[in-house]
Amino acid sequence: MVRATMRRVTGDLGRAGHRTERNDHSACRAGDCVARLAAPAPPRRDDRPIAPLFSRSCREVGVPLVSIEGVSKSFGDHRVLTDINLAVEAGEVVVVIGPSGSGKSTLCRCVNRLETIDEGRILFEGSPLPTEGRELARMRSRVGMVFQSFNLFAHRTILDNVTLGPVKVLGQKRPAAQARARELLARVGIADKADRLPRELSGGQQQRAAIARALAMDPVLMLFDEPTSALDPEMISEVLDVMRSLASSGMTMIVVTHEMGFARSAADRVAFMADGRILEVAPPAAFFDAPQTDRARDFLARILRH
Ligand SMILES: Nc1ncnc2c1ncn2[C@@H]1O[C@H](COP(=O)(O)OP(=O)(O)OP(=O)(O)O)[C@@H](O)[C@H]1O
Ligand SMILES: [Mg+2]
Repeated sequence: MVRATMRRVTGDLGRAGHRTERNDHSACRAGDCVARLAAPAPPRRDDRPIAPLFSRSCREVGVPLVSIEGVSKSFGDHRVLTDINLAVEAGEVVVVIGPSGSGKSTLCRCVNRLETIDEGRILFEGSPLPTEGRELARMRSRVGMVFQSFNLFAHRTILDNVTLGPVKVLGQKRPAAQARARELLARVGIADKADRLPRELSGGQQQRAAIARALAMDPVLMLFDEPTSALDPEMISEVLDVMRSLASSGMTMIVVTHEMGFARSAADRVAFMADGRILEVAPPAAFFDAPQTDRARDFLARILRH
């Protein structure tokens, strides 16, 4: 797919601003259905959201960034995903919720082909996921993943953790990668931790370093799988704030979380899963105020009681 650099977006983009930008296709050429802003980020201001590095889809061309179509998957004879259909537009934030074991993580892992699927297909920027080799590696490098466990290299500094991917995978020069890494660490609020080892950081700080590491690869899509569930309560909000800021900047995000406040405030749509199926997809207000299925009502009643 041909890529184009579109008009750079500067300044703060709240949700309203980001919606406007997302629908602005004035700089698109026919066929350039996805364009990514790769311009360097503007200088940090404390109230500025995280770098406006994101991809946008030309709606008139009709290509979502990710399109999951009729996907089913089993582990042995245990079916864990059944006929999943979900299209995620560029710039959209979809929060996936549902009971334990409903297939949320498996779905996330299928999106960047950490798991294979048995039926259906997954399109990324309009093309089927590559099955192997360079193309798969390239596609994966454009999808940032943040898990519950941070998986930082324990014996490397935070700065090294964030620069390793850009240098080794993207071939960036070390000084440029380091400058960008420091900028990202500042954006997630841990500029002063650049030369520390992961064990010298709190859980929330390590998770923010993991987010910076993912962003350093200039992803067009961020997948979050319960990024706050291993954190102490007081550290959860600092990570959610970073994610909110990222969402406001227009990053396309699929977020698995039990943080209903985040889902309400940051999601464009909420997808509710149970028993390997997506039972409901709706804007957060509609979903939380008037869930359509008994499963969703039960789930919300249980989770909101805690
Ligand atoms: N590698 C695997 N091999 C066999 N079964 C698996 C594997 N990974 C997941 N499963 C099973 O698939 C089902 C869905 O698991 P998954 O981790 O996707 O659920 P989840 O919705 O993310 O749950 P949780 O909220 O607890 O994280 C579960 O029954 C799980 O035991
Ligand atoms: Mg999971």
